[in-house]
Amino acid sequence: MSAQLQTFLQQAAARVEAEIERALEPSTAGAEKLFAAMRYAALGPGKRLRPGLVYACAQTLRGADFVPARCDAAAAALECIHAYSLVHDDLPAMDDDDLRRGRPTCHIEFNEACAILAGDALQTQAFELLLASDAAPALKLRLLEELAAAAGSRGMVAGQAIDLDSVDKALSLPQLETMHRLKTGALIRASARMGALLGGADEAELAAVSRYAEAIGLAFQVQDDILDVTADTATLGKTQGADAARNKPTYVSLLGLEGARDKLQGLHRQALESLAQLDRDTSLLGQLADYIVQRSH
Ligand code: IPE
Ligand code: IPE
Ligand code: MG
Ligand code: MG
Ligand code: MG
Repeated sequence: MSAQLQTFLQQAAARVEAEIERALEPSTAGAEKLFAAMRYAALGPGKRLRPGLVYACAQTLRGADFVPARCDAAAAALECIHAYSLVHDDLPAMDDDDLRRGRPTCHIEFNEACAILAGDALQTQAFELLLASDAAPALKLRLLEELAAAAGSRGMVAGQAIDLDSVDKALSLPQLETMHRLKTGALIRASARMGALLGGADEAELAAVSRYAEAIGLAFQVQDDILDVTADTATLGKTQGADAARNKPTYVSLLGLEGARDKLQGLHRQALESLAQLDRDTSLLGQLADYIVQRSH
């Protein structure tokens, strides 16, 4: 990863973690365990990629007038939805994983009921964060609309439903692509679009950012599928080989490793082509696209 991107992502992560910590303080009396599970899930050692994308898109659009604080609520909301999706994704009824971010998954560290509730509460926390932000009412509504659409039954949850329904089945390539675009792409696209909206993007700029984000969002899950085969558990922080063990259709199971890598390169090219349509300094977003296809965990 470039030094510029590393510094940018570290600053974004620090901001979003402070925002989430503030939102989860103090615990509701009697529900301390719920809050401990929420903090465990939302503040564990993740990459904070979605928040990073919010700040990076806002900065790209806004230029010298970029004010990071205006992005904190949206960035934290996206990370809360993402964290909730991981807690539920790891549950025994879903992927049944016991390792996440190098630590026991939420339902192992706490218990299943507590993990379900922590996921539920992180989801509503996301909308509370956006509602409490000081964005102008019209912008706030637009951000809420983006997040709700991307997270729900037309977005991430739909992708997860297709994923669970696809175990032991052979999906066609278009079906697999739809599943990946929904389960992972939708929140990544929403992160970029919410950042662009906070950066004051017009509709043409928003469309270019969306195309960029659709490419990196799909690329992100293609690389996740590749790493499930090629990486090791210690580097990944989650159990290597989990997809094959559960007979999940993935880009690697459909196209083989080389086919999946070709797909990844094609998506990387598409992302950079979309950035070329933006009349801005897009070097940071270009570096983010490079990182997504090269990442090791
Ligand atoms: C993992 O997401 C789940 C997928 C959508 C592939 P990340 O790889 O962003 O997970 P963290 O937040 O860094 O742990
Ligand atoms: C993750 O897909 C999708 C969501 C959590 C929404 P995976 O099931 O492939 O993610 P990992 O590999 O467990 O992180
Ligand atoms: Mg899954
Ligand atoms: Mg999983
Ligand atoms: Mg995976």
